[in-house]
Amino acid sequence: MRTVRVNAASKSYDVLIGKNAVESLGEEAKKVCPGALKALIVSETNVAKIYLDVVKSRLEDAGFEVISYVFEAGEQNKNINEIAGMWNKMAEAGFTRTDFVVGLGGGVTTDMAGFAASTFLRGIKVIQLPTSLLAMVDASVGGKTGIDIPMGKNQVGAFWQPSLVLEDITFLRTLPDEVFTEGMGEVTKHAFIMDLKLFDTLEKANGSIRDDEDLLEEIVYMNVSDKASVVGEDETDNGRRQTLNFGHTVGHVIERDSGFTKPHGICVAKGMGIVIDACVRAGTLDAGEAEKMKNLLKMYDLPAEDEITPQAIVTGAMNDKKKRGDTLSVILVNKIGQAEIKKMTAEEFLKFLSV
Ligand SMILES: NC(=O)c1ccc[n+]([C@@H]2O[C@H](COP(=O)([O-])OP(=O)(O)OC[C@H]3O[C@@H](n4cnc5c(N)ncnc54)[C@H](O)[C@@H]3O)[C@@H](O)[C@H]2O)c1
Ligand SMILES: [Zn+2]
Repeated sequence: MRTVRVNAASKSYDVLIGKNAVESLGEEAKKVCPGALKALIVSETNVAKIYLDVVKSRLEDAGFEVISYVFEAGEQNKNINEIAGMWNKMAEAGFTRTDFVVGLGGGVTTDMAGFAASTFLRGIKVIQLPTSLLAMVDASVGGKTGIDIPMGKNQVGAFWQPSLVLEDITFLRTLPDEVFTEGMGEVTKHAFIMDLKLFDTLEKANGSIRDDEDLLEEIVYMNVSDKASVVGEDETDNGRRQTLNFGHTVGHVIERDSGFTKPHGICVAKGMGIVIDACVRAGTLDAGEAEKMKNLLKMYDLPAEDEITPQAIVTGAMNDKKKRGDTLSVILVNKIGQAEIKKMTAEEFLKFLSV
């Protein structure tokens, strides 16, 4: 088992990564939730079918009284009605401030479990058990929690750090191929913005990392370490954490324009490809480095292009919630493993994107 310590300003906690990590859930939960009697497992239909029983048993073996709340899988259910369902379930079961929530699922689940925990009784503990690659390397680490509203994704939420994140690599065995590929969008992003060693590891693996669980564990560990380092420096997204937005300013527009039919990770990859090309034209990124980055995307079945126009990108980006004032913070990569935050006006961004 590998451990990454996250030292966020508001809280420090461990991310434990390994094959069969779930076996230690009971013991670890007792350590981080002393005095707890009850646990609510939040999960969704696809994941609960496979993993709810084992997670419940591990907690019961450790002496906790365990209840569960299972919602229908899918981003469309990341809403306030489901959160209210979780609140009610805990209230009915007599949860107190020392009891805790367990998020068991992909990013939709861990975001919602975290948000329910952050609000119930003004905040109780949450342990995250991510089951998708994206949730392991990104969503479950760093404390951003929340839900969607009709006006936009992740528009309501809270910063609420987990007390523990337990990442069982064997859970990835059942993840559908296309969902795994989406997660690779964030993995390649970490390589591009801050981790040359990860880049080299991915390049050497030549697109096949799924079947080698030791390698997969190593890669997940590298990604969690990257995310932990960024969150340790800037928990609330006012500085370095913004570099994690590489490819996202453009990607979000493509995602929204598709009515959220194109998956997030795929849109981020397209966004990264578009910005990589623009960096080469602007003369801030070497063409050979750019080629290597785009090849890596291809190697992992990720697209690096989209037919969206620069004008459509700029119009969409100016409506994004991540915008601050009149300028956009655009994330550039100057060489593999090194990112820069650059403030641009709409006009500057349009010029940057235009061929
Ligand atoms: N909090 C953050 O910092 C952060 C960062 C990135 C993304 N997110 C959020 O994460 C969400 C996307 O996460 P996601 O891609 O994991 O989506 P998801 O939770 O919908 O999971 C994707 C699909 O995989 C299935 N699945 C998950 N684990 C499985 C397993 N082990 N076996 C079989 N099927 C499995 C799910 O049922 C679902 O159909 C978005 O809502 C996004 O906003 C949050
Ligand atoms: Zn993302």
